[in-house]
Amino acid sequence: MTEKTLHYLNCTLQGAVTVPGDKSVSHRSIMFGAMATGTTTVEGFLLGEDCLDTIKCFRKLGVTIDVQGTNVTITSPGIAAWQEPSEVLYTGNSGTTTRLMLGVLAGSKVHSIMTGDASIAKRPMRRVVDPLRLMEADIRGRANGQFTPLAIQGKTLKAIDYKMPVASAQVKSAILLAGLHAEGTTIVREDVVSRDHTERMLRQFGVTVATEGGVASLAGGQTLTATHVAVPGDISSAAFFLVAGAIVPNSEVVLDNVGMNETRDGIIDVLRAMNVNLRVSNEMNGAEPTATLTVTSSTLQSTTIGGALIPRLIDEIPILALLATQAHGTTIIRDAEELKVKETDRITAVVDELTKLGATIEATNDGMVITGPTPLHGAHLRSYGDHRIGMMGAIAALIADGEVTIDDTACIAISYPNFFEHIEQLTKSLS
Ligand code: S3P
Repeated sequence: MTEKTLHYLNCTLQGAVTVPGDKSVSHRSIMFGAMATGTTTVEGFLLGEDCLDTIKCFRKLGVTIDVQGTNVTITSPGIAAWQEPSEVLYTGNSGTTTRLMLGVLAGSKVHSIMTGDASIAKRPMRRVVDPLRLMEADIRGRANGQFTPLAIQGKTLKAIDYKMPVASAQVKSAILLAGLHAEGTTIVREDVVSRDHTERMLRQFGVTVATEGGVASLAGGQTLTATHVAVPGDISSAAFFLVAGAIVPNSEVVLDNVGMNETRDGIIDVLRAMNVNLRVSNEMNGAEPTATLTVTSSTLQSTTIGGALIPRLIDEIPILALLATQAHGTTIIRDAEELKVKETDRITAVVDELTKLGATIEATNDGMVITGPTPLHGAHLRSYGDHRIGMMGAIAALIADGEVTIDDTACIAISYPNFFEHIEQLTKSLS
């Protein structure tokens, strides 16, 4: 096991770190580079386990992928010439790999079987399989396609006009990617625009995608042209140090090159609403916008997080819940039932683990209610094999007055392999 015991007495955080590459963008860079014919280059790639699993899947489809540090070169014969894999495609812990690849493989020419780890085996796939079947995709799987393993016979598909029942970029992306191999124009309608990395990156690869007011559409039959992708730093990883800088006394943390896509930066709105001292500088407008974020220790106010904000910060809710334990007043997080079907049930996990640390927190049907500020104490925590729950526990340890033990910290490498190195870099013990 990779149990870790953390004890930081009177620590403060000072300095700058560059957070690893964005997980969503890294996955897509491999997938799109593999769909294109020729050589795609990627810089700033996330060497997290989820993205490495995506690479392994595409190698089994006959795509050559060379990894040199965070630079990746993808050389592909193009989706039409992929090899039929002789082995099962293993997607590990990655919902993004599993769901997006369903869309890609459904419109390919090959037969394939996908499966993942114990967490993936519990995550709902019908949300992707159902619209793909409306496109006439041939997908079989456990519980009529709700769970992995899933078998996909690639074929030419039919376009659909689909109204999304849940805000999910994974579902939207799977449909759009399948739409590239469908007859007609595929349309996806969303009430709230979920992260739009797929739409942005498809354009980088030369595909025409229309986006307006929550409607994304593309014509079938378009091919991708190999290109260069610069991956921004992951705001979902930066979130842990944004919160750490705010809650650890006498701290100043600088994070550069953080992705600031407006479909992802809901945490910035919340930090401002909670009175966090945050400076945004060096804003750059590439295919994905980036900025430098500087945070200092703050006197925090409670807030309410719900509605259209939720898809813009869904992965940041565990760490924002920790922030709320240090805010004056009652913070309400609602409309976030999607948390129940993430890597683990994140409502139960966050409430149980923060309670062990001494927080005043209650679960609701669609979120949680947290009253602060409360001092946090040492405790024995579980990560549930969920990287974001493990990191929440480690950041809590920075302000806890005793030892915090986390049962399994290996999972943190799923999205942030050098997380503990960055904690060490920033921690200057005063004792
Ligand atoms: C992701 C979309 C989100 C997010 C996940 C990554 C993506 O999931 O939680 O970590 O890369 O498209 P949903 O689409 O299920 O909301």
